[in-house]
Amino acid sequence: MIESIEKIRTTAIDKVAEATSSEELEKLRVQYLGKKGELTQVLRGMGKLPPEERPKVGQLANQVRQELEKALQEAKENLARRELAERLKSETIDVTLPGRPIRKGSRHPLYQILNEIKDIFIGLGFDVAEGPEVESDYYNFEALNLPKDHPARDMQDSFYITPDVLLRTHTSPVQARVMESRKPEIPIRIIAPGKVYRRDDDATHSPMFFQVEGLLIDKRVTFGDLKGTLMAFLKQMFGKEVGVRFRPSYFPFTEPSAEVDMSCVMCGGEGCRVCSQTGWLEILGCGMVHPRVLSMSGYDPQEVSGFAFGLGVDRVAMLKYGIDDLRMFYDNDLRFLRQF
Ligand code: PHE
Repeated sequence: MIESIEKIRTTAIDKVAEATSSEELEKLRVQYLGKKGELTQVLRGMGKLPPEERPKVGQLANQVRQELEKALQEAKENLARRELAERLKSETIDVTLPGRPIRKGSRHPLYQILNEIKDIFIGLGFDVAEGPEVESDYYNFEALNLPKDHPARDMQDSFYITPDVLLRTHTSPVQARVMESRKPEIPIRIIAPGKVYRRDDDATHSPMFFQVEGLLIDKRVTFGDLKGTLMAFLKQMFGKEVGVRFRPSYFPFTEPSAEVDMSCVMCGGEGCRVCSQTGWLEILGCGMVHPRVLSMSGYDPQEVSGFAFGLGVDRVAMLKYGIDDLRMFYDNDLRFLRQF
């Protein structure tokens, strides 16, 4: 009996030492110490021993049980420690690896230009006003001295919603809206940036484009004030190098009227597709507010005068960035947009 206990002791302790997983340890515990385990069986057979041998065998068996329990416990802890160490090793994060960048977007080039334009005019003392993109025939045309049968309406072939409502063809209706809401207050000094719509589509015309309207009403405003204001703006926007010319023109809502051209940056004034071989690119229309427009909106043309202009933001952006096709602004090609 003593021999078999000793045998259990050595083999069991060896096996425990060799075990490589917690499951194996549990199996060994059941095998030796469980209800039907080997050591348990031996103890059960104690009854058959002569009484004087029983205490000695019992003592040994208990000792072996304690040793085995201790060995199992230690092995379990060791294994747990090793398993944890292995897991930590396999799950380590290499903090020196480059991270996955979060792609940042940027403002659309047209809005960058629009903000630059706004900043310059705000610096010159103008406020920013707004009007609706879906506009009534009255504000888009009539209040600007363009009655229903006026041939100049053809210059702005338009998107109509109903016979009396259309997508505004220019930002000029904001002139009438602002004067109407502020009369008889002076001075008025506003710019009105926004989208406008026309039935046009080529390298320098898009059916939707951006304008910035300007309006200044006060006592004794002259064409000199208009020219000075626009020259100050253009100088800040483009620097001195770019050529500018004022060309007499016609708008029903201004008198006299002019258009402002800038020398074409694409060909340096030689003539190309972008400037229709003229060497110049038109960027704005302007003039002295027509007396009839003033009186329709509640101002007395004998008391006040004013100037107005409508600036093509897309054209300014083309010139500023040297882009020869306006449609690129609207293609949403990231290879293009990421350059700004
Ligand atoms: N509204 C005109 C256009 O879109 C531009 C303009 C504005 C001309 C103000 C004169 C005064 O063509």
